[in-house]
Amino acid sequence: MASYAYYNGKYDLHERLSVPLSDRALYFGDGVYDVMLVRRGKVYQAEAHYDRLSLNCGALELPFSTSLREVLSVIHRLCDLSNIIDGVAYIQVSRYSERRAHEFDSRSDCNLLITVTEYSGHGERSASAITLPDRRYGMCNLKTLNLLPSVIALAEAKRQGADCAIFLRDGTVTEEARSNVAIIKGKVLLTHPLDHTVLPGITRANLLRAARELGIAVEERGYSLEEMISADEILVSSTTKFLRRVTKLNGIGTKCADYGLYSALRERLIMDFLHETD
Ligand code: PDD
Repeated sequence: MASYAYYNGKYDLHERLSVPLSDRALYFGDGVYDVMLVRRGKVYQAEAHYDRLSLNCGALELPFSTSLREVLSVIHRLCDLSNIIDGVAYIQVSRYSERRAHEFDSRSDCNLLITVTEYSGHGERSASAITLPDRRYGMCNLKTLNLLPSVIALAEAKRQGADCAIFLRDGTVTEEARSNVAIIKGKVLLTHPLDHTVLPGITRANLLRAARELGIAVEERGYSLEEMISADEILVSSTTKFLRRVTKLNGIGTKCADYGLYSALRERLIMDFLHETD
């Protein structure tokens, strides 16, 4: 099936659309991105994702001026052109295109790249993980294009036969290379607080809301590897995979003491998604 992409006003097939050599995303990773789910042509939690994208642009002085309406209209057009009903939309904003120079000056608008690819579903309910030192820099709260430490960590996970790489910073669990992490101990859900070491995940926010609605207490605080190992459940959350439970950590089976909480939380997240996009 022909797959279309969008760049600065132009629509074309993925393999034909070109981006200038001078796009600062290429030299500096000077940009931010966000990922949204599309179901039956409806974009799930579009506002929350757009608001995060805008906030990220503001934090990095990227003069992003495309409205949510315009972004949605591009996504819908791409779905039509590529004949996609359920998709994953990727929105990338980079500063501008100019000869390579670290310094930047102020411009009136940014480069905008949008793709939509077929969504293959929430996938597996369980995942295996390894732990690794968090080698990322101190701006993990922003969804920037600089993903090399995560890419390397996931390659190491793959080498060890695992799906996920959970990061530890100064002995504290921060997040996973491409998702947030939470643990359940008894009737309490624990997750790292929002600061510069974790991404404020949209699914994380949904998970905390769902937990409270289900009568599960929520604690936002750092916890150690030992606490994670002894937890009843280890959960990873993200837009595309919703909520998965880690059944193997560093090669050892986890507790997965299923008191029905994992299933209830996952079901709630998926129900909310189905409901909003119906
Ligand atoms: N990843 N933490 C990191 C480092 C992430 O890259 C992501 C998302 C999350 C979860 O955020 P959200 O619930 O808003 O998707 C947490 C996306 C899916 C990606 O990069 O493809």
